[in-house]
Amino acid sequence: MLAPRAGGVYLDGTFGGGGYARAILDSASCSLFAIDRDPAAVQRAHEFAKDYPNRFTICEGRISNLSSLLDACGASELDGAVFDLGVSSYQIDDPSRGFSFRVDGPLNMQMGSSGLDAAQIVNFCTESELADILFKYGDEKAARKIAKVIIERRKTQKFETTSDLAGVIRSVVRPDKSGIDPATRSFQALRIAVNEELSDIEAALVQAADLLAPGGRLVVVSFHSLEDRIVKQFFAAETGRAPGASRHNPAGMLRQTKPRFSLVTKAAVGPDDAEMRANPRARSAKMRVMERLGERLAA
Ligand SMILES: C[S@@+](CC[C@H](N)C(=O)[O-])C[C@H]1O[C@@H](n2cnc3c(N)ncnc32)[C@H](O)[C@@H]1O
Repeated sequence: MLAPRAGGVYLDGTFGGGGYARAILDSASCSLFAIDRDPAAVQRAHEFAKDYPNRFTICEGRISNLSSLLDACGASELDGAVFDLGVSSYQIDDPSRGFSFRVDGPLNMQMGSSGLDAAQIVNFCTESELADILFKYGDEKAARKIAKVIIERRKTQKFETTSDLAGVIRSVVRPDKSGIDPATRSFQALRIAVNEELSDIEAALVQAADLLAPGGRLVVVSFHSLEDRIVKQFFAAETGRAPGASRHNPAGMLRQTKPRFSLVTKAAVGPDDAEMRANPRARSAKMRVMERLGERLAA
């Protein structure tokens, strides 16, 4: 979908383990700038760079700063950009990062190395702030109940570990028929709040769209409805199909009146059965693609 071409300049906004980056660099003799806010991912990228001399540059930072990160590297225009949103398998599978309720770890959940961690939110937010986070970012119907029990418990003992928090959540939320762990939605909510994920996505889409040259594609893979809603609405606005105002319309994103892009995929594309079997974590992925309008100047 990104369709890299020789001589083109691309952005992988979410380097992670470098799977996308390698696929892009192997598919055409192009150059690639990559971003990740996670110092461990950046470390991996420095190793990765040795395989692609003079074609690959890693920038440590947040995608909400992508314009200035790319500017500092001398990249002023892109022939394509891709974002594979959310946490990486490296992050989920490392108990010391505190993303998982399945294995015990410190209540951290930071993708980067600055800002609040999950323990600070859980131990110091007010009851209504906590309930709002769980409801808004986790779609958790029992948000108020969970916030209440957290506040009660932390009066005697602060939360330090993922399994402690998951245990307290499970004590008030019964599993439903889906078989999904009752702590899942709360953990997703805390992770999104800790990393300010949604506002970063909004800012990144706006900046990437501005940097794309005619013919350049923006490819975004999201993993839950909050992410996908932002992508869908942004794509609608940029392709001249802006939806009417709604409480979900992120302020400042829907500013286009004249379309600058056309949709490449009419609807979101999900993984096929074979991919889901090979990579069960892809099951909730949704990919959306649009292309910048206009004539590409000859290279
Ligand atoms: C799903 S993984 C990407 C996996 C990658 N496509 C691969 O093939 O290995 C997402 C990565 O993006 C990073 N990330 C997520 N949100 C970010 C943000 N707002 N700014 C910078 N990096 C971010 C995470 O640290 C993580 O390493």
